[in-house]
Amino acid sequence: YGSRLDVAVDPLEGTSIVATGTWGALAVLAVADAGDLLHAPDMYMDKIAVGPEAAGLISLDNSIEENIAIVAKAKNKNVEDVVVTILHRDRHEEMIQRVRATGARIKLIPDGDVAAAINTAFPKTGVDLLLGSGGAPEGVIAAVAMKCLGGDFQGRLLPEDEAQEKRCQDMGIADTGRILLL
Ligand code: FBP
Repeated sequence: YGSRLDVAVDPLEGTSIVATGTWGALAVLAVADAGDLLHAPDMYMDKIAVGPEAAGLISLDNSIEENIAIVAKAKNKNVEDVVVTILHRDRHEEMIQRVRATGARIKLIPDGDVAAAINTAFPKTGVDLLLGSGGAPEGVIAAVAMKCLGGDFQGRLLPEDEAQEKRCQDMGIADTGRILLL
């Protein structure tokens, strides 16, 4: 008999992407040793993803401005040449303003933050950093991808009410505010 494994599946990451015929939908499956994947509750997660050059340097505990400066330095770029991908949502308005104020460039995407995270690991995509909140289950899949690619990913669950907080507790996540590392 074989080993026990954790499997995370998203048969269609980017439902609206497919419906609208735009870019970045994926069928994804992540596999890890048993117990190594977060059993992510269906809620939002604050996320940061970077490619290999800035792996181990960024942190969700840093300010947006600090993380952008770290990525610029790690990639030997001017801040003005750093491109940050952010889901185009009202909840990200303040973040968008702050990124713009640093001088960094922004790529606003309508959906698909798994592909957006992965893109940070491929220089030809021209994207350096993913910031902002998206689905927590998608965050787990993005984290596995970034681990395989030698990049980095951090997440922090964002329970919005008592029911979501309880859901985290029931799933064994005692400290919902902690940073989840690769
Ligand atoms: P779905 O395919 O499940 O709709 O996910 C698409 C997506 O854009 C994810 O990439 C992202 O994490 C999440 O939705 C963002 O959620 P919201 O649309 O509520 O901001």
